[in-house]
Amino acid sequence: MLSYVIILYNKFLQKDNDMKKIFTILVIISCTSLMAIDIAPITKKCAGCHGLKGEKKALNKSKIMNQMTKEEFITATKGYKDGSYGGAMKAIMKPQVMALSDEQIEALADFYIK
Ligand code: HEC
Repeated sequence: MLSYVIILYNKFLQKDNDMKKIFTILVIISCTSLMAIDIAPITKKCAGCHGLKGEKKALNKSKIMNQMTKEEFITATKGYKDGSYGGAMKAIMKPQVMALSDEQIEALADFYIK
């Protein structure tokens, strides 16, 4: 997909200047929308225990996510994945976060923690 855009872009670079400008803007817009991560389906899953805004103690046990720092959130979430973090109920968290990428975890940190 991206290489196709680049080929098209090179073709347009050979044309006049206005076309170049318009196309550059289009490329920037489409790239940012390609990179945007849709975390809504993930936050719905977490909401069952942590609340929609991360405002609850999950199963009356966890820290309140939106009161953690982003660093704590990221360390905890990545730690559940590799087993280096967690308390008595960490076995519950591992399958919740196992499939998340680093990018998704960072997007979640931005979503929950202002
Ligand atoms: C089935 C309920 C449940 C779901 C769903 C769930 N969690 Fe949890 N979460 C918990 C529990 C229980 C803990 C505390 C686990 C422990 O003992 O370490 C926890 C802990 C955490 C912590 C660390 C908080 C602390 O106390 O240090 C983070 C961060 C977290 N969850 C993020 C998420 C994210 C992100 C999702 C969605 C992808 C999610 N959780 C989905 C139950 C859940």
